[in-house]
Amino acid sequence: MKLFDVYPLFDVTIDHGKGCYVYDDKNQEYLDFYGGHAVISIGHGHPKYLQTMQEQAAKLVFYSNAVKNPLQAKLAAKLGPVCGYDDYQLFLINSGAEANENALKLASFYTGKKKVIAFSHAFHGRTSAAVNVTQNPKIQAPINATFPVDFFELEDIEGVKASIAQGDVAAVIIEGISGVGGIHVPSVGFMQELRKVTAENNVVLILDEIQSGYGRSGKFFAHQWYGIQPDLITMAKGIANGYPFAGVLISPKFAPVYGQLGTTFGGNHLGCALACTVLDVIQEEHLVENAAKQGDYLMNGLKSITIPGLKELRGKGLMIGIEFDYPYKEVRNRLLYDQHVFTGAAGTSTLRILPPLCIQQKECDLFFERFEKALKK
Ligand SMILES: Cc1ncc(COP(=O)(O)O)c(C=O)c1O
Repeated sequence: MKLFDVYPLFDVTIDHGKGCYVYDDKNQEYLDFYGGHAVISIGHGHPKYLQTMQEQAAKLVFYSNAVKNPLQAKLAAKLGPVCGYDDYQLFLINSGAEANENALKLASFYTGKKKVIAFSHAFHGRTSAAVNVTQNPKIQAPINATFPVDFFELEDIEGVKASIAQGDVAAVIIEGISGVGGIHVPSVGFMQELRKVTAENNVVLILDEIQSGYGRSGKFFAHQWYGIQPDLITMAKGIANGYPFAGVLISPKFAPVYGQLGTTFGGNHLGCALACTVLDVIQEEHLVENAAKQGDYLMNGLKSITIPGLKELRGKGLMIGIEFDYPYKEVRNRLLYDQHVFTGAAGTSTLRILPPLCIQQKECDLFFERFEKALKK
């Protein structure tokens, strides 16, 4: 049987990983400044993570959501104070798209309305509602256009206000920092106005923190830089350091209804145990603070390097975009194949830097050295 060939692949086979490094099948070491797409939070092969994996797998990997699972309550109790939303409720699923799918459904159940406001260049996932609020016709099938969506450019608060004034908007969905769109950090003023206008009109504000959350921006959630409190927060990627797991944080104003949401695998025993260990490590190793510190170091270091054709450096914490005025492809390939550094990318001209949250100055310095070499043709 052949694989369904939808991924353009790098000619590299990653075999194992340790900390901020991954190794291919010939044992070549690579500096991981991609984190497997912002997924690796506490680092590859963390001993505590491996211990939890072994112990919980030996005990129980999965049992149905039809029975009590104290590990879900344990995770919620740990997460509340760490993320600053102790009074919110937690619903667990398996992927980022599913988190947004459920958040959009909740907003529609709550308001009884259908229309959603989203932003151009945002990415919210590939399931039906999530892809319908992602303005990319290439990944939308005809069956995905199931509800009306008004798209606006980031910062276009007047457009948003005019749309909300029509009275038929259920939700606004926005990323804490746009990832796939090329690392765009919204302004504090825009986000505060957005919170104000949604609250005043009973429109649900959904913050997609799937990529920007879990410490990556240097605060637990990126929206905490803007001093706002959303109604729903979606999270995935770093939550279980590579084990498929995701969640929605739900404000107390939403009352749960039996059977309204549900999932087979979401909140399974192994995932909950791993997510608890990830939170423990994030706290014990001060990884949110480390993301802020190393992010500043990276940003300052990048500013001091002469980058030919640099258009803009953007980001917060360990979510950095380097936009060139030419396609990134050759630089990214030289980084990977010659310098052995993994990076992410966005569009055709932005490199995305998304390392594990545990990187140290040593790894940043190594990145500067190799990046400077890769910039030379
Ligand atoms: C901001 C954002 N939202 C949603 C998703 C979708 O997550 P998943 O691929 O886990 O469904 C992604 C994935 O890259 C993302 O970056």
